[in-house]
Amino acid sequence: MDVARIGFIGVGGVAGGHLNYLSKFEDAELVAMCDINAEQLAKRAEDFGVEDTYADYRDMLEKADLDAVYVCVPPFAHGSIEEDVVATGTPIFVEKPVHLDMEPAIKKYETIRDSGVINAVGYCVRYLDTIVPLKERLADHKVEMALGYYMGGAPGGWWQQRDRSGGQLVEQTTHIVDTALYVVGDVAAVGGGFATRTPINDTATIDNMSIAHLYFENGAIGTITSSCALSQGFKTGLDIFARDLVVEFTYGGMEIRTPDDTYNQQTGNDMFPAEGRAFIDAVKSGDRSSILCDYGQGLKTLEVTLLAFDAFQQRTVLETSFQPGE
Ligand SMILES: NC(=O)c1ccc[n+]([C@@H]2O[C@H](COP(=O)([O-])OP(=O)(O)OC[C@H]3O[C@@H](n4cnc5c(N)ncnc54)[C@H](O)[C@@H]3O)[C@@H](O)[C@H]2O)c1
Repeated sequence: MDVARIGFIGVGGVAGGHLNYLSKFEDAELVAMCDINAEQLAKRAEDFGVEDTYADYRDMLEKADLDAVYVCVPPFAHGSIEEDVVATGTPIFVEKPVHLDMEPAIKKYETIRDSGVINAVGYCVRYLDTIVPLKERLADHKVEMALGYYMGGAPGGWWQQRDRSGGQLVEQTTHIVDTALYVVGDVAAVGGGFATRTPINDTATIDNMSIAHLYFENGAIGTITSSCALSQGFKTGLDIFARDLVVEFTYGGMEIRTPDDTYNQQTGNDMFPAEGRAFIDAVKSGDRSSILCDYGQGLKTLEVTLLAFDAFQQRTVLETSFQPGE
């Protein structure tokens, strides 16, 4: 195949980013798109010159001749989309988080795996050009602690409803959790807590602030913090510590400090098109080695965030039988 013919299911915010870079790839063609929001669909279709549009993705899968499908629906809206796409044998790119519940997501994973189709999940941070040198540098050290942050303001709409987005940890901070899994290692146990003392508005059901504790299989520990109640912004990134090693990693670059030297690297690429390039290359060649996050890996990250959220309900209560000064 010289040119990959692409279809979209869901053409809202994130799809705009994917459509932008795909429209510039010489070996990709935007062929069809679908969205249940007719106005949004019409706007995207016009902006990207796509004539073949659908209100129901099943019609698109039946009628359009596609080499790959991007699934860019919100976390609560996955339904049976993945199963229906892979039933046509078409490679699939699914935006993160892949679902809000493990049980249906595991079934989707098994269906995708058994179908053998090329699959990718949108954990785009893995594609930053700082990640390979970071992983190389960490290979010489035993990481002992990671502190992550996704601390800023709140997007609107479904994002603010916990039953629709999964909450900030599951929907947004998942990028930082995924980066920690990718560069530090797999997680064996989780814990955490959350707080909302001054809600961001009258209708939001997500928590203002949370901490997720990660206990890595290799013995390292971590805490990933989230806040959507800081409209003035704060920070997004991951700090990593080993003996005599400090790493400060953000999307914009990283600094690695030892007692002897400081290494600085600014990010030199755009993670979105880099992620798309890897997927389209895999679709065209059949070689999936360029894909850094497949559905199974995306599912592992989902599991950590969902279980950390569940762990919020459990805590060890102090049973203090004395008061200082008595
Ligand atoms: N990788 C990233 O950095 C990144 C950034 C933003 C969003 N996301 C993820 O992308 C997903 C979508 O987020 P968004 O911000 O684009 O949301 P959005 O609400 O802007 O867009 C989602 C679109 O999907 C459509 N839709 C819903 N159900 C549908 C269905 N059954 N068939 C067809 N269309 C349907 C909606 O009408 C809407 O237009 C979320 O899972 C989000 O977490 C990822």
